[in-house]
Amino acid sequence: MTIKRIGVMTSGGDAPGMNACVRAVVRTAAYNGVEVLGIIQGYEGLIHGEVKELTTRDVGGIIQRGGTILQTARSQQFRTKQGQREAVREMNENGMDGIIVIGGDGSLKGARALAELGVPVMGVPASIDNDIFGSDMSIGVDTALNTIIDAIDKLRDTASSHNRAFIVETMGRDCGYLAQISGIISGAEMVLLPGAEINVESVAKVIEDSYMKGKNHAIIVVAEGAQYNATQLSQELKDLDVGFHTRVTILGHIQRGGGPTAFDRLLGTRLGIKSVEALLGGTTDMMVGLQGNKIALVPLTEVVSHTRNVADDYMELFKRVS
Ligand code: F6P
Repeated sequence: MTIKRIGVMTSGGDAPGMNACVRAVVRTAAYNGVEVLGIIQGYEGLIHGEVKELTTRDVGGIIQRGGTILQTARSQQFRTKQGQREAVREMNENGMDGIIVIGGDGSLKGARALAELGVPVMGVPASIDNDIFGSDMSIGVDTALNTIIDAIDKLRDTASSHNRAFIVETMGRDCGYLAQISGIISGAEMVLLPGAEINVESVAKVIEDSYMKGKNHAIIVVAEGAQYNATQLSQELKDLDVGFHTRVTILGHIQRGGGPTAFDRLLGTRLGIKSVEALLGGTTDMMVGLQGNKIALVPLTEVVSHTRNVADDYMELFKRVS
């Protein structure tokens, strides 16, 4: 089948670099004489036929912008068979011969569902969590890490001035990647990850040891999904004498915002180009992913049937330098 018109959507949690990817998709398609419809708010917009034509001009001036110009959503309706049928129906109504889905784990599961219904589809990994199997890095991770270390550097300034310990909570769902890597590159004293039992006494000891070594601060990074969140951990530590007074900072959604770093602009661009070229070349039911410094094609079935727990790989590294 000759592809004349494709759809592109961003879905799930937004990630810096999504716009760079949308731009690359639109421009690569145009280069090949293919029209692009931008789908507004992910699968939700697809089901309700909320689309707009995107020309090369429409995606000018967006490569440096955080968020997503297409907006995004987490669609409950698309999880149902009927929702998926509606989506395919709308695609046919709008003359879409294929679709590029830019998003995280759940969005790629949605892409798989479309492929099963016979839709030519390519997935692009985009999520600050870096929990997507088949790609060393997802779009948005590098920017989120830079946001986190910038925040921790600032917290250390105030912590050092007041002789305080800070418990900093990062996002990342069940993966722990953001916490683990930011812990290494911000010089944190301890990182607490999902899936590991937290011994409050040993956390207290790390903080107390830092005090006794003459440090004027301590930074404990707690990943989302860890046994205790930052607030709970601070409660647990409340009655223990650890030398420093403690404060809690939950970084929250600022980790998802901001203009994409050079790395994320390039990654979004490379993945966007490759996804369109693959789709136009007849490839479907695949995700484009970064492996080493190459862009690889990974079957969506493999992507959605594996969970990625990259944090473990870095635990040893952290022990050497903390
Ligand atoms: O998947 C990205 C992410 O930011 C996770 O780290 C976090 O658990 C979740 O999304 C938060 O979702 P929401 O924006 O719906 O609160």
